[in-house]
Amino acid sequence: MDPAEFGYSTLEMKHAPYGPITPEALKDSNKGKIAVVTGAAQGIGAAIAEALAKSGASVAILDLSVEKLAKTKEACEKQGVKVRAHACDVTNGGRLKEVFDEVEKELGNIDVLVNNAGILDQRPFIMADFNTFWRQIEVNFKAPLLTIHTLLPRFRDRGAGCIINIASRSATVDVPMTLGYVTSKAALARATHTLQREMVLEKLDPAVHLYALHPGGVLTGMGGSGASQDVLDKYGDVRDEKFFMELFKDGPELCGQTCAWLATGQGKELRGLYLDCRQDVERLLGVGREKLLKEKKNVLTVNFLEGYANEP
Ligand SMILES: NC(=O)c1ccc[n+]([C@@H]2O[C@H](COP(=O)([O-])OP(=O)(O)OC[C@H]3O[C@@H](n4cnc5c(N)ncnc54)[C@H](O)[C@@H]3O)[C@@H](O)[C@H]2O)c1
Repeated sequence: MDPAEFGYSTLEMKHAPYGPITPEALKDSNKGKIAVVTGAAQGIGAAIAEALAKSGASVAILDLSVEKLAKTKEACEKQGVKVRAHACDVTNGGRLKEVFDEVEKELGNIDVLVNNAGILDQRPFIMADFNTFWRQIEVNFKAPLLTIHTLLPRFRDRGAGCIINIASRSATVDVPMTLGYVTSKAALARATHTLQREMVLEKLDPAVHLYALHPGGVLTGMGGSGASQDVLDKYGDVRDEKFFMELFKDGPELCGQTCAWLATGQGKELRGLYLDCRQDVERLLGVGREKLLKEKKNVLTVNFLEGYANEP
């Protein structure tokens, strides 16, 4: 992988919470809100749940088993908020509805949904078992759409809601050996753009605000994981694993705190967009929504030769 292919930022990139998104700046800013975080047992999801709890939100944390959620539950409870842990495979629509009903009965109406659960299987498509490949689309794309489809009518009836989809930089670039991952994340980012436009039709814009978020490079169960031995045996170290590992230098708190900040509504001008947590939210807000949309910044788009437009 040649990093120069994508260029280097000349503006400072953030790797840890800063200014407006620190726990101190966000103290009590989500007090009284109820937030759901999927895939919260570890890694980035755990940090998102904890950041939301620090900002005063009660949290419902979902993952494949309740046992896996114990550590996150304890960390969130330390913040003095209500916490409920639910075993839930997010690809199971029936179970999701059951869990959301339970959360609303026990904690109150859900205000914030963070679709974080995700999986990655690194192998060339030609070497992949189709079902394993497709499972990534189910977890990374179908599941967020299922959660949104279940909660959106409730957000409509209450006239408010915040949805954060943890996408990935992989949504925006071609990464060989990760077809299921890149396509599911691209679809999720596209869905975020389009759904925000549907909120306009529904007269729910900006009251219902969505975001697609790249959390940065975080060393987690997934982040920094490599290809399996059979793939390495066949193709060699195509990605330069050692170099790749060095790219994972962001703390999970950066994404966690960015989610807490978005949940407050302070970032509503950025709704519908694809955001990279490493970029300063104040800088983006400073440019303004109108200019960002006009210049197609922070949206998945295609560029043609000068003179050709992407006309209908
Ligand atoms: N780590 C990174 O550098 C990085 C970069 C870009 C995007 N992301 C995204 O961030 C999110 C979190 O990733 P992470 O790095 O913390 O990974 P992780 O593997 O450490 O955690 C993912 C969590 O999701 C849960 N999960 C998986 N399938 C599930 C299912 N069907 N139902 C319920 N829970 C399920 C897992 O049990 C696990 O607790 C993912 O969506 C990932 O694609 C991560």
